[in-house]
Amino acid sequence: MASGLLKGAVLLLVSVLSWLCVYMKGRYTVDVQSLPQHPRSHQPPYPGGTADNLLWFLQVSDIHISRFYDPQRVTDLKQFCTENVDVFKPPMVLVTGDLTDAKTIDRGGSMQYEVEWRTYYGVLKETNVMERTLWMDIRGNHDAFDIPALHSNRNFFRQYSSMGQTGKISYHHAHKTPFGTYSFVALDACLNPGPRRPFNFFGYLNESSLATLQSLADETVHSNMTIWMGHHPTATILSPNPGIKHVIRNGIAYLCGHLHDLGGLFPVMYSMQEGGTLELELSDWMNNRRYRLLAADHDMLSFVDVKLGEWPVVLVTNPKHAMFATPSHEPLGRIRHSTHIRVLAFSPDPIEKVVVWLDGVRFCEASHVEGPLFTCPWNPADYGTGLHTIAVDVSDRKGRTRHQEHPFSVDGSRANISFVQTVILQTDWLVLMKLVFVLVFTAGVLSLPVLRYCSPALPPGGSSLDSVGGAGCGCSRLLELLGISAWCGMMNMSKGAYPRQFVQKWLSRLSLLTKVDQLYYPLFCFGVYIPIGPWFYGELIQGCHGALFMHGTYIAGAYVPGLWSHAYATLQIALFHVPLTVYLAMLLDNHLCHLSHKNNQASNNHAKPRYRLYRQLIGLLRLHGFGVFFLIWQLYSSYWVLVAYGTMSFLICPLRTWSLLLAAWLIYKVRTLPKEKVAHLVR
Ligand SMILES: *[C@@H]1O[C@H](CO)[C@@H](O)[C@H](O)[C@H]1NC(C)=O
Ligand SMILES: *[C@@H]1O[C@H](CO)[C@@H](O)[C@H](O)[C@H]1NC(C)=O
Ligand SMILES: *[C@@H]1O[C@H](CO)[C@@H](O)[C@H](O)[C@H]1NC(C)=O
Repeated sequence: MASGLLKGAVLLLVSVLSWLCVYMKGRYTVDVQSLPQHPRSHQPPYPGGTADNLLWFLQVSDIHISRFYDPQRVTDLKQFCTENVDVFKPPMVLVTGDLTDAKTIDRGGSMQYEVEWRTYYGVLKETNVMERTLWMDIRGNHDAFDIPALHSNRNFFRQYSSMGQTGKISYHHAHKTPFGTYSFVALDACLNPGPRRPFNFFGYLNESSLATLQSLADETVHSNMTIWMGHHPTATILSPNPGIKHVIRNGIAYLCGHLHDLGGLFPVMYSMQEGGTLELELSDWMNNRRYRLLAADHDMLSFVDVKLGEWPVVLVTNPKHAMFATPSHEPLGRIRHSTHIRVLAFSPDPIEKVVVWLDGVRFCEASHVEGPLFTCPWNPADYGTGLHTIAVDVSDRKGRTRHQEHPFSVDGSRANISFVQTVILQTDWLVLMKLVFVLVFTAGVLSLPVLRYCSPALPPGGSSLDSVGGAGCGCSRLLELLGISAWCGMMNMSKGAYPRQFVQKWLSRLSLLTKVDQLYYPLFCFGVYIPIGPWFYGELIQGCHGALFMHGTYIAGAYVPGLWSHAYATLQIALFHVPLTVYLAMLLDNHLCHLSHKNNQASNNHAKPRYRLYRQLIGLLRLHGFGVFFLIWQLYSSYWVLVAYGTMSFLICPLRTWSLLLAAWLIYKVRTLPKEKVAHLVR
């Protein structure tokens, strides 16, 4: 019976896992061939030897101008606005949010500092960059910290930014050229009202803002190409049906920032959405001084991410990178009809030499056409099937060189985008966090009543698990279904007795704990409180009081759905509630042993006196070390509530501060439990 159940459980687990793998693979790989192809894919104009049908522009993200840290960010931004804008002469620069840092000096709190905004706007004014290019900036989550409403005078974006003065937060700019219209749509998904950090990390679009974005998308239907830009990657935006990805699916790319380089792990993060739209996260200006050069050449999009100060900057626009080919959004068939390889090369000093290599063989030295464009004639049919490599070596008069290479194809063969990057950008983190919470909540909190009502009394130390689910109550089948008996049965069969004893010991300790009313009810109710009750009440925004629940925040007469909170709830259960339960069970066990005077002498008697102190210390550490550790952790978490949201939030904080009081009270209760109360539980 038990082994049959075990096999069944393993089979179920394996099938769920394999289903998950198949589902994920389907989710993360886009079958671009099945998407409708671009209507002008095989129509002229074809890439040739002249400087037409060509447009390029820049993107910068996560500048984080801070009044406390790294003034070099500002100095370097000035350099970018003068030198780089002069060299590239882009018609527009897209700035995807987090213009200012808005963090306090200890980095725990957050507020809008006018001086940071003045600095940002000062750079734009001083360098005259807004007259030399269209500086398209939008807000990021840092620019929305501690802002009660969009019209608030603390929303400095309205005053100290290039686009904020228009009064719009999301907007569409149509760039008209003789060869076509190019649409740039900026998407602001910042929370409104904007709480202080940390509960202001994810983005949210309500139905009306999504409808506004849809109407902006509708304006772009006749454009040759639509580029979306925003601060938050789509995986970090909560939006109602049909969802943000559906609204931006007409765009060839969505350019974003926000995740920086994920702590140095991913200098680049690229992926493709289901509808064929590229999602390209740009690493930050803040620490990495990254920016991106993009070009639309004959309506095909190419880009390269570069670091400030690195020259020359090189971008091959034909044939474009095979990894970022989107047949549904660009006329890729034009590569096959093209007559020239096209390379853009930028440097403050004249470009001396552009050498092109195809499949590792020197192919030609490209000749200068005009501006940054270098071309050399080729016959695409020679590279007709499969993937090939193009490499370019560029040098300028100062002797600086750059080597750039990428795979390309003429027949539409594709190079795969990194799976891990796709997982990061295309996983629905909000749903995943909810799922993890449900699992952890079930294991950490809902298991308590199961233990209380489904196992008979056990002696401390756990003499026998066979009695679990035996007499006493009718829940033995439930335990069996949970696989506990089966697992222990298996342990019994295997040679090692240690795991079996370990499980028995803890099962009996925990079930004993749940049988003491004074401990069980507070513990269980507090666990259930986490997803239900308010976590704290206080100044979530300066001057505005609000209450934070797991499902969302009520503040300034508005409701902001809970986004990060599921992760916090998971941490609270995993790092506080479960450890507290375990610690109490240990204490109770220890207390009962003392009551029955069993271990008192036994452990110490045979030790030599000089080892006694040492043994006592080890014993204390084993019993309390763990408890002290997680209590300090919780104290530290409460401290961060104080730093982030002020004194009132710290004082009226059931989740953190009060939970410490509860823990202290429960620990006191365990230590003073009278013998009569527990005697009947122990046989
Ligand atoms: C832009 O679109 C128009 C039609 O809407 C087309 O005639 C023109 O060739 C396109 N431009 C390019 C560069 O493909
Ligand atoms: C939706 O969000 C926008 C922008 O954040 C806000 O102005 C508007 O009041 C919100 N609408 C509703 C119905 O909450
Ligand atoms: C891309 O992935 C597909 C399967 O997902 C595989 O068949 C193909 O060989 C990969 N291509 C490259 C160039 O790695």
